[in-house]
Amino acid sequence: MAAVHESVLDAIGGTPLVRLARLGAGIAAPIYAKVEFLNIGGSVKDRAALSMVLAAERDGLLKPGGTIIEATSGNTGIGLALVGRQRGYRVIAGVADKASAEKSDILRAYGAEVVLAPTAVPAEDPRHLFNVVQRLAEEIPGAWLANQYDNLANPDAHIRTTGPEIWAQTGGRVTHFVAGVGTGGTVTGTGSYLKEASGGAVTVVGADPEASTYGGGDGSPWYVESIGHYLHPDTVEDRQPQALRAEVIDSYERIPDRESLLTVRRLSREEGLLAGPSSGTAVAAALRVARRLGPDDLVVVVLPDSGRSYLSKVHSDAWMREWGFLEEGSTLRTLLDAAGPLVTVDADATVGEAVELLRDAPGGVAPVVLKRAARPYGVAAAEVAGSASREVLAAALAEGAAKPGDPLGALVGPALPTVGVGQSPDEARAVLGEAHGAVLVLVDGRVAGVLAREVLR
Ligand SMILES: Cc1ncc(COP(=O)(O)O)c(C=O)c1O
Repeated sequence: MAAVHESVLDAIGGTPLVRLARLGAGIAAPIYAKVEFLNIGGSVKDRAALSMVLAAERDGLLKPGGTIIEATSGNTGIGLALVGRQRGYRVIAGVADKASAEKSDILRAYGAEVVLAPTAVPAEDPRHLFNVVQRLAEEIPGAWLANQYDNLANPDAHIRTTGPEIWAQTGGRVTHFVAGVGTGGTVTGTGSYLKEASGGAVTVVGADPEASTYGGGDGSPWYVESIGHYLHPDTVEDRQPQALRAEVIDSYERIPDRESLLTVRRLSREEGLLAGPSSGTAVAAALRVARRLGPDDLVVVVLPDSGRSYLSKVHSDAWMREWGFLEEGSTLRTLLDAAGPLVTVDADATVGEAVELLRDAPGGVAPVVLKRAARPYGVAAAEVAGSASREVLAAALAEGAAKPGDPLGALVGPALPTVGVGQSPDEARAVLGEAHGAVLVLVDGRVAGVLAREVLR
Protein backbone atom coordinates (compact mmCIF):
# COMPACT_ATOMS: atom_id res chain seq x y z
CA MET A 1 0.00 0.00 0.00
CA ALA A 2 1.23 3.44 -0.89
CA ALA A 3 2.48 5.74 1.87
CA VAL A 4 0.54 8.56 3.55
CA HIS A 5 2.43 11.89 3.70
CA GLU A 6 1.81 15.04 5.74
CA SER A 7 3.45 17.19 3.03
CA VAL A 8 4.15 16.87 -0.71
CA LEU A 9 7.80 17.40 0.18
CA ASP A 10 7.80 14.00 1.90
CA ALA A 11 6.50 12.47 -1.36
CA ILE A 12 9.68 13.33 -3.29
CA GLY A 13 11.77 10.26 -4.15
CA GLY A 14 10.93 6.60 -3.57
CA THR A 15 10.30 5.98 -7.29
CA PRO A 16 9.89 2.44 -8.69
CA LEU A 17 12.21 0.41 -10.89
CA VAL A 18 10.46 -1.13 -13.90
CA ARG A 19 12.00 -3.85 -16.09
CA LEU A 20 12.24 -2.95 -19.78
CA ALA A 21 11.26 -6.44 -20.90
CA ARG A 22 10.21 -5.62 -24.48
CA LEU A 23 12.97 -3.23 -25.47
CA GLY A 24 15.42 -5.57 -23.76
CA ALA A 25 14.06 -8.74 -25.42
CA GLY A 26 16.90 -10.96 -26.61
CA ILE A 27 19.44 -9.19 -24.41
CA ALA A 28 20.89 -11.36 -21.60
CA ALA A 29 21.38 -8.58 -19.03
CA PRO A 30 18.15 -7.25 -17.50
CA ILE A 31 17.54 -3.51 -17.86
CA TYR A 32 15.53 -1.69 -15.19
CA ALA A 33 14.24 1.87 -15.57
CA LYS A 34 14.23 4.19 -12.55
CA VAL A 35 10.95 5.97 -13.24
CA GLU A 36 11.78 9.47 -12.02
CA PHE A 37 8.79 11.06 -13.72
CA LEU A 38 6.74 9.55 -10.88
CA ASN A 39 8.20 12.11 -8.50
CA ILE A 40 5.49 14.41 -7.16
CA GLY A 41 6.57 17.35 -9.39
CA GLY A 42 7.06 15.06 -12.38
CA SER A 43 10.84 14.77 -12.68
CA VAL A 44 14.14 13.72 -11.15
CA LYS A 45 14.74 17.41 -10.42
CA ASP A 46 12.37 17.40 -7.41
CA ARG A 47 15.13 15.68 -5.49
CA ALA A 48 17.79 18.27 -6.35
CA ALA A 49 15.38 21.17 -5.70
CA LEU A 50 14.45 19.96 -2.21
CA SER A 51 18.09 19.31 -1.35
CA MET A 52 19.26 22.75 -2.62
CA VAL A 53 16.50 24.70 -0.81
CA LEU A 54 17.08 22.92 2.52
CA ALA A 55 20.84 23.48 2.21
CA ALA A 56 20.33 27.19 1.42
CA GLU A 57 18.09 27.59 4.49
CA ARG A 58 20.63 25.74 6.62
CA ASP A 59 23.48 27.94 5.31
CA GLY A 60 21.47 31.15 5.90
CA LEU A 61 21.37 32.02 2.17
CA LEU A 62 17.58 31.83 2.04
CA LYS A 63 15.54 33.62 4.70
CA PRO A 64 11.80 34.17 5.23
CA GLY A 65 10.43 36.46 2.49
CA GLY A 66 13.29 35.51 0.17
CA THR A 67 13.19 34.85 -3.58
CA ILE A 68 14.47 31.72 -5.30
CA ILE A 69 15.91 32.33 -8.77
CA GLU A 70 17.17 29.74 -11.23
CA ALA A 71 18.05 29.21 -14.88
CA THR A 72 16.30 25.97 -15.72
CA SER A 73 15.11 23.83 -18.60
CA GLY A 74 11.83 23.69 -16.72
CA ASN A 75 12.12 20.69 -14.48
CA THR A 76 14.39 22.25 -11.88
CA GLY A 77 12.09 25.25 -11.95
CA ILE A 78 9.09 23.01 -11.25
CA GLY A 79 10.94 21.37 -8.37
CA LEU A 80 11.99 24.74 -6.97
CA ALA A 81 8.49 26.19 -7.46
CA LEU A 82 6.92 23.21 -5.70
CA VAL A 83 9.39 23.23 -2.81
CA GLY A 84 9.82 27.02 -2.69
CA ARG A 85 6.11 27.88 -2.63
CA GLN A 86 5.49 25.23 0.05
CA ARG A 87 8.13 26.94 2.17
CA GLY A 88 6.83 30.44 1.51
CA TYR A 89 9.24 31.92 -1.06
CA ARG A 90 8.78 33.84 -4.33
CA VAL A 91 10.18 31.77 -7.24
CA ILE A 92 11.52 33.14 -10.56
CA ALA A 93 12.48 30.67 -13.30
CA GLY A 94 14.64 31.71 -16.26
CA VAL A 95 13.74 29.31 -19.09
CA ALA A 96 15.65 28.73 -22.36
CA ASP A 97 13.56 30.10 -25.22
CA LYS A 98 13.95 26.80 -27.13
CA ALA A 99 12.31 24.75 -24.35
CA SER A 100 8.75 23.53 -24.97
CA ALA A 101 5.93 25.95 -24.12
CA GLU A 102 4.28 23.37 -21.88
CA LYS A 103 7.21 23.60 -19.46
CA SER A 104 6.69 27.34 -18.88
CA ASP A 105 2.94 26.81 -18.48
CA ILE A 106 3.53 24.23 -15.77
CA LEU A 107 5.92 26.58 -13.95
CA ARG A 108 3.32 29.33 -13.91
CA ALA A 109 0.69 26.86 -12.69
CA TYR A 110 2.89 26.06 -9.69
CA GLY A 111 3.12 29.77 -8.91
CA ALA A 112 6.54 30.59 -10.40
CA GLU A 113 7.27 33.68 -12.51
CA VAL A 114 8.85 32.82 -15.89
CA VAL A 115 11.53 34.82 -17.72
CA LEU A 116 12.46 33.59 -21.22
CA ALA A 117 16.02 34.11 -22.54
CA PRO A 118 18.25 32.56 -25.24
CA THR A 119 21.00 30.02 -24.65
CA ALA A 120 22.10 29.84 -28.32
CA VAL A 121 24.29 32.93 -27.95
CA PRO A 122 27.89 33.12 -26.66
CA ALA A 123 28.19 32.54 -22.89
CA GLU A 124 29.51 36.11 -22.52
CA ASP A 125 26.44 37.68 -24.18
CA PRO A 126 24.40 39.72 -21.65
CA ARG A 127 21.21 38.22 -23.16
CA HIS A 128 22.36 34.68 -22.32
CA LEU A 129 19.98 32.98 -19.90
CA PHE A 130 22.68 32.51 -17.24
CA ASN A 131 23.59 36.21 -17.33
CA VAL A 132 19.93 37.25 -17.19
CA VAL A 133 19.24 35.26 -14.01
CA GLN A 134 22.54 36.38 -12.48
CA ARG A 135 21.46 40.01 -12.94
CA LEU A 136 18.04 39.35 -11.40
CA ALA A 137 19.68 37.71 -8.40
CA GLU A 138 21.86 40.79 -7.86
CA GLU A 139 18.97 43.25 -8.25
CA ILE A 140 16.29 41.60 -6.07
CA PRO A 141 16.84 41.97 -2.30
CA GLY A 142 16.88 38.63 -0.45
CA ALA A 143 17.29 36.70 -3.71
CA TRP A 144 19.14 33.41 -3.82
CA LEU A 145 20.36 31.91 -7.08
CA ALA A 146 20.01 28.14 -6.77
CA ASN A 147 22.70 27.62 -9.46
CA GLN A 148 22.08 23.90 -9.92
CA TYR A 149 25.16 23.60 -12.17
CA ASP A 150 27.60 24.48 -9.40
CA ASN A 151 25.51 23.69 -6.30
CA LEU A 152 26.88 20.60 -4.56
CA ALA A 153 23.55 20.05 -2.79
CA ASN A 154 22.35 18.91 -6.27
CA PRO A 155 24.58 15.79 -6.57
CA ASP A 156 24.24 15.36 -2.81
CA ALA A 157 20.49 14.71 -3.23
CA HIS A 158 21.37 11.65 -5.31
CA ILE A 159 24.08 10.46 -2.91
CA ARG A 160 21.47 10.51 -0.13
CA THR A 161 18.38 9.26 -2.03
CA THR A 162 18.62 7.98 -5.64
CA GLY A 163 21.77 5.92 -5.09
CA PRO A 164 20.61 4.16 -1.89
CA GLU A 165 17.17 3.49 -3.43
CA ILE A 166 18.70 1.75 -6.47
CA TRP A 167 21.11 -0.23 -4.31
CA ALA A 168 18.26 -1.42 -2.05
CA GLN A 169 15.78 -2.04 -4.89
CA THR A 170 18.23 -4.28 -6.76
CA GLY A 171 19.42 -5.99 -3.58
CA GLY A 172 22.95 -4.83 -4.46
CA ARG A 173 22.82 -6.62 -7.84
CA VAL A 174 23.17 -3.49 -10.01
CA THR A 175 26.38 -3.64 -12.09
CA HIS A 176 25.86 -0.75 -14.56
CA PHE A 177 24.26 2.65 -14.05
CA VAL A 178 23.28 4.75 -17.09
CA ALA A 179 22.05 8.37 -16.98
CA GLY A 180 21.99 11.48 -19.13
CA VAL A 181 24.22 14.36 -18.07
CA GLY A 182 22.83 17.88 -17.78
CA THR A 183 24.22 19.50 -14.65
CA GLY A 184 25.76 16.10 -13.93
CA GLY A 185 24.04 15.96 -10.55
CA THR A 186 22.19 12.68 -11.18
CA VAL A 187 25.09 10.76 -12.69
CA THR A 188 27.66 12.12 -10.21
CA GLY A 189 25.63 11.63 -7.03
CA THR A 190 24.00 8.30 -7.89
CA GLY A 191 27.13 6.98 -9.60
CA SER A 192 29.47 7.81 -6.75
CA TYR A 193 27.10 6.27 -4.18
CA LEU A 194 26.75 3.06 -6.20
CA LYS A 195 30.51 2.82 -6.72
CA GLU A 196 31.12 3.19 -3.02
CA ALA A 197 28.39 0.74 -2.00
CA SER A 198 29.68 -1.88 -4.46
CA GLY A 199 33.35 -1.44 -3.58
CA GLY A 200 33.99 0.06 -7.02
CA ALA A 201 32.23 -2.71 -8.95
CA VAL A 202 29.46 -0.60 -10.54
CA THR A 203 30.25 0.90 -13.95
CA VAL A 204 28.82 4.37 -14.59
CA VAL A 205 27.90 5.35 -18.16
CA GLY A 206 26.97 8.84 -19.31
CA ALA A 207 24.32 8.97 -22.04
CA ASP A 208 25.16 11.95 -24.24
CA PRO A 209 23.76 13.49 -27.41
CA GLU A 210 26.32 12.84 -30.17
CA ALA A 211 27.05 16.56 -30.73
CA SER A 212 27.42 17.40 -27.00
CA THR A 213 30.95 18.14 -25.77
CA TYR A 214 30.68 15.89 -22.68
CA GLY A 215 31.18 12.72 -24.69
CA GLY A 216 33.50 14.31 -27.26
CA GLY A 217 31.18 16.13 -29.70
CA ASP A 218 31.79 19.61 -31.14
CA GLY A 219 29.07 21.30 -29.05
CA SER A 220 26.84 22.15 -32.04
CA PRO A 221 23.06 22.09 -31.41
CA TRP A 222 21.08 18.87 -30.93
CA TYR A 223 17.42 17.96 -30.43
CA VAL A 224 17.22 16.39 -26.96
CA GLU A 225 16.40 18.95 -24.27
CA SER A 226 18.03 19.16 -20.83
CA ILE A 227 21.12 17.02 -21.35
CA GLY A 228 24.52 17.47 -22.96
CA HIS A 229 26.82 20.49 -23.13
CA TYR A 230 26.37 23.06 -25.93
CA LEU A 231 29.24 25.25 -27.09
CA HIS A 232 28.63 28.39 -29.13
CA PRO A 233 31.61 28.88 -31.50
CA ASP A 234 32.23 32.40 -30.12
CA THR A 235 32.27 31.32 -26.45
CA VAL A 236 35.67 32.24 -25.01
CA GLU A 237 35.70 30.37 -21.71
CA ASP A 238 33.80 27.09 -21.57
CA ARG A 239 33.02 26.25 -17.94
CA GLN A 240 32.22 22.74 -16.74
CA PRO A 241 29.56 22.45 -14.01
CA GLN A 242 30.87 21.71 -10.54
CA ALA A 243 27.92 19.36 -9.97
CA LEU A 244 29.59 17.06 -12.50
CA ARG A 245 32.58 15.02 -11.30
CA ALA A 246 34.08 13.66 -14.52
CA GLU A 247 35.97 10.87 -12.74
CA VAL A 248 32.70 9.19 -11.69
CA ILE A 249 31.80 8.51 -15.35
CA ASP A 250 33.65 5.47 -16.73
CA SER A 251 32.56 6.02 -20.33
CA TYR A 252 30.05 7.82 -22.51
CA GLU A 253 27.64 6.39 -25.05
CA ARG A 254 27.15 9.03 -27.73
CA ILE A 255 23.66 8.82 -29.15
CA PRO A 256 22.54 10.47 -32.41
CA ASP A 257 19.29 12.43 -32.10
CA ARG A 258 17.28 10.06 -34.31
CA GLU A 259 18.20 7.08 -32.10
CA SER A 260 17.21 9.02 -28.94
CA LEU A 261 13.89 10.17 -30.35
CA LEU A 262 12.87 6.85 -31.91
CA THR A 263 13.80 5.05 -28.68
CA VAL A 264 11.60 7.24 -26.46
CA ARG A 265 8.69 6.69 -28.87
CA ARG A 266 9.21 2.92 -28.53
CA LEU A 267 9.33 3.32 -24.73
CA SER A 268 5.76 4.64 -24.61
CA ARG A 269 4.35 2.26 -27.23
CA GLU A 270 6.07 -0.95 -26.13
CA GLU A 271 6.68 -0.47 -22.40
CA GLY A 272 3.84 1.88 -21.46
CA LEU A 273 6.30 4.47 -20.16
CA LEU A 274 5.52 7.93 -21.59
CA ALA A 275 8.82 9.74 -21.08
CA GLY A 276 10.70 12.79 -22.34
CA PRO A 277 13.45 12.76 -24.98
CA SER A 278 16.38 12.59 -22.53
CA SER A 279 14.94 9.23 -21.43
CA GLY A 280 15.31 8.14 -25.07
CA THR A 281 19.01 8.99 -25.02
CA ALA A 282 19.47 7.17 -21.70
CA VAL A 283 17.57 4.04 -22.77
CA ALA A 284 19.34 3.94 -26.16
CA ALA A 285 22.65 4.06 -24.25
CA ALA A 286 21.46 1.38 -21.77
CA LEU A 287 20.51 -0.92 -24.67
CA ARG A 288 23.97 -0.50 -26.20
CA VAL A 289 25.63 -1.22 -22.84
CA ALA A 290 23.39 -4.21 -22.02
CA ARG A 291 24.05 -5.88 -25.39
CA ARG A 292 27.69 -6.24 -24.35
CA LEU A 293 26.83 -7.85 -20.97
CA GLY A 294 25.77 -11.23 -19.59
CA PRO A 295 22.89 -12.58 -17.45
CA ASP A 296 24.69 -11.84 -14.18
CA ASP A 297 24.83 -8.16 -14.97
CA LEU A 298 22.03 -5.72 -14.18
CA VAL A 299 21.62 -2.33 -15.82
CA VAL A 300 19.71 0.56 -14.24
CA VAL A 301 18.77 3.55 -16.42
CA VAL A 302 17.16 6.83 -15.32
CA LEU A 303 13.99 8.17 -16.97
CA PRO A 304 14.19 11.82 -15.83
CA ASP A 305 10.81 13.22 -16.90
CA SER A 306 7.44 12.52 -18.48
CA GLY A 307 6.47 12.67 -22.14
CA ARG A 308 3.46 14.83 -21.29
CA SER A 309 5.66 17.92 -21.63
CA TYR A 310 6.63 16.91 -25.17
CA LEU A 311 3.36 15.93 -26.81
CA SER A 312 3.89 18.65 -29.44
CA LYS A 313 7.50 17.59 -29.99
CA VAL A 314 8.98 14.08 -29.97
CA HIS A 315 5.60 12.40 -29.41
CA SER A 316 4.04 14.20 -32.40
CA ASP A 317 4.42 12.48 -35.81
CA ALA A 318 4.03 15.88 -37.52
CA TRP A 319 6.91 17.36 -35.50
CA MET A 320 9.11 14.34 -36.18
CA ARG A 321 8.47 14.71 -39.93
CA GLU A 322 9.01 18.50 -39.93
CA TRP A 323 12.52 18.09 -38.53
CA GLY A 324 13.41 15.16 -40.73
CA PHE A 325 13.34 12.41 -38.12
CA LEU A 326 10.58 10.38 -39.85
CA GLU A 327 10.69 9.84 -43.58
CA GLU A 328 8.72 6.77 -44.72
CA GLY A 329 7.70 7.04 -48.36
CA SER A 330 9.60 10.30 -48.78
CA THR A 331 9.56 11.84 -52.25
CA LEU A 332 11.66 14.82 -51.17
CA ARG A 333 14.50 12.35 -50.58
CA THR A 334 14.56 11.56 -54.32
CA LEU A 335 14.55 15.26 -55.22
CA LEU A 336 17.27 15.90 -52.64
CA ASP A 337 19.50 13.17 -54.05
CA ALA A 338 19.15 14.79 -57.51
CA ALA A 339 19.90 18.31 -56.21
CA GLY A 340 23.64 17.79 -55.77
CA PRO A 341 25.85 18.53 -52.77
CA LEU A 342 24.81 21.12 -50.18
CA VAL A 343 26.42 24.56 -50.50
CA THR A 344 26.68 26.69 -47.35
CA VAL A 345 28.20 30.13 -46.83
CA ASP A 346 29.94 30.94 -43.52
CA ALA A 347 28.55 34.02 -41.79
CA ASP A 348 31.99 35.66 -41.80
CA ALA A 349 32.60 35.12 -45.56
CA THR A 350 33.26 38.05 -47.92
CA VAL A 351 30.92 38.97 -50.78
CA GLY A 352 33.48 37.65 -53.28
CA GLU A 353 33.81 34.29 -51.49
CA ALA A 354 30.04 33.94 -51.32
CA VAL A 355 29.61 34.65 -55.06
CA GLU A 356 32.18 31.96 -55.78
CA LEU A 357 30.37 29.43 -53.55
CA LEU A 358 26.97 30.30 -55.02
CA ARG A 359 28.09 29.43 -58.56
CA ASP A 360 26.85 25.85 -58.14
CA ALA A 361 24.05 26.42 -55.61
CA PRO A 362 20.61 25.14 -56.62
CA GLY A 363 18.25 28.06 -57.21
CA GLY A 364 21.20 30.45 -56.76
CA VAL A 365 20.66 30.58 -52.98
CA ALA A 366 22.43 29.01 -50.01
CA PRO A 367 22.05 29.09 -46.25
CA VAL A 368 24.39 31.42 -44.36
CA VAL A 369 25.59 29.50 -41.31
CA LEU A 370 27.42 30.11 -38.06
CA LYS A 371 31.08 29.33 -38.65
CA ARG A 372 32.57 26.27 -36.97
CA ALA A 373 36.04 24.82 -37.40
CA ALA A 374 34.65 21.47 -38.55
CA ARG A 375 31.21 20.02 -39.06
CA PRO A 376 31.21 16.31 -38.27
CA TYR A 377 27.42 16.28 -37.81
CA GLY A 378 26.37 18.77 -40.49
CA VAL A 379 24.63 22.11 -39.94
CA ALA A 380 21.80 22.07 -37.37
CA ALA A 381 18.75 24.14 -38.31
CA ALA A 382 19.46 26.44 -35.32
CA GLU A 383 22.83 27.37 -36.84
CA VAL A 384 21.31 28.91 -39.96
CA ALA A 385 21.69 32.70 -39.66
CA GLY A 386 20.15 33.70 -43.01
CA SER A 387 20.56 33.19 -46.75
CA ALA A 388 22.81 34.43 -49.53
CA SER A 389 21.49 34.96 -53.07
CA ARG A 390 23.66 34.98 -56.23
CA GLU A 391 21.31 37.50 -57.82
CA VAL A 392 21.38 39.94 -54.87
CA LEU A 393 25.17 39.77 -54.50
CA ALA A 394 25.79 40.16 -58.26
CA ALA A 395 23.51 43.22 -58.38
CA ALA A 396 25.25 44.80 -55.36
CA LEU A 397 28.66 44.28 -57.02
CA ALA A 398 27.43 45.60 -60.39
CA GLU A 399 25.95 48.73 -58.80
CA GLY A 400 29.10 49.32 -56.76
CA ALA A 401 27.11 48.96 -53.51
CA ALA A 402 29.56 46.27 -52.40
CA LYS A 403 33.13 45.24 -53.18
CA PRO A 404 34.30 41.61 -53.35
CA GLY A 405 36.38 42.03 -50.18
CA ASP A 406 33.47 43.37 -48.09
CA PRO A 407 31.89 41.21 -45.39
CA LEU A 408 28.50 39.78 -46.36
CA GLY A 409 26.87 41.75 -43.54
CA ALA A 410 23.86 43.66 -44.79
CA LEU A 411 23.54 41.47 -47.92
CA VAL A 412 22.49 38.43 -45.86
CA GLY A 413 18.82 37.75 -46.58
CA PRO A 414 16.22 36.08 -44.35
CA ALA A 415 16.70 32.38 -43.58
CA LEU A 416 15.02 30.05 -46.08
CA PRO A 417 12.02 28.14 -44.74
CA THR A 418 12.59 24.50 -43.78
CA VAL A 419 10.84 21.21 -44.46
CA GLY A 420 11.62 17.74 -43.17
CA VAL A 421 12.70 15.14 -45.68
CA GLY A 422 9.58 13.12 -44.77
CA GLN A 423 7.19 15.91 -45.81
CA SER A 424 5.52 16.05 -49.21
CA PRO A 425 6.36 18.36 -52.15
CA ASP A 426 2.94 19.97 -51.54
CA GLU A 427 3.93 20.83 -47.98
CA ALA A 428 7.28 22.13 -49.23
CA ARG A 429 5.48 24.43 -51.71
CA ALA A 430 3.20 25.62 -48.92
CA VAL A 431 6.09 26.70 -46.67
CA LEU A 432 7.79 28.33 -49.67
CA GLY A 433 4.95 30.82 -50.08
CA GLU A 434 5.61 33.76 -52.40
CA ALA A 435 8.64 35.23 -50.72
CA HIS A 436 11.27 32.51 -51.14
CA GLY A 437 12.90 30.84 -54.14
CA ALA A 438 13.96 27.69 -52.30
CA VAL A 439 13.49 25.57 -49.17
CA LEU A 440 16.02 23.94 -46.86
CA VAL A 441 15.44 20.22 -46.43
CA LEU A 442 16.20 18.80 -42.99
CA VAL A 443 17.35 15.26 -42.27
CA ASP A 444 17.72 14.51 -38.55
CA GLY A 445 17.27 18.23 -37.80
CA ARG A 446 20.26 19.13 -39.96
CA VAL A 447 20.36 20.87 -43.31
CA ALA A 448 20.75 18.18 -45.97
CA GLY A 449 20.11 20.27 -49.08
CA VAL A 450 18.32 23.11 -50.81
CA LEU A 451 15.42 22.57 -53.21
CA ALA A 452 14.64 25.36 -55.65
CA ARG A 453 11.01 26.28 -56.37
CA GLU A 454 11.32 24.88 -59.91
CA VAL A 455 12.06 21.29 -58.83
CA LEU A 456 9.04 21.21 -56.47
CA ARG A 457 6.50 21.52 -59.30
C1 LIG B 1 14.49 15.97 -18.58
C2 LIG B 1 15.83 15.98 -17.95
N1 LIG B 1 16.69 15.01 -18.26
C3 LIG B 1 17.93 14.98 -17.75
C4 LIG B 1 18.38 15.96 -16.90
C5 LIG B 1 19.81 15.90 -16.43
O1 LIG B 1 19.95 15.67 -15.08
P1 LIG B 1 21.19 16.26 -14.30
O2 LIG B 1 21.05 17.76 -14.32
O3 LIG B 1 21.08 15.72 -12.93
O4 LIG B 1 22.44 15.85 -15.00
C6 LIG B 1 17.53 16.99 -16.57
C7 LIG B 1 18.00 18.08 -15.73
O5 LIG B 1 17.50 19.19 -15.79
C8 LIG B 1 16.21 17.01 -17.09
O6 LIG B 1 15.37 18.00 -16.82
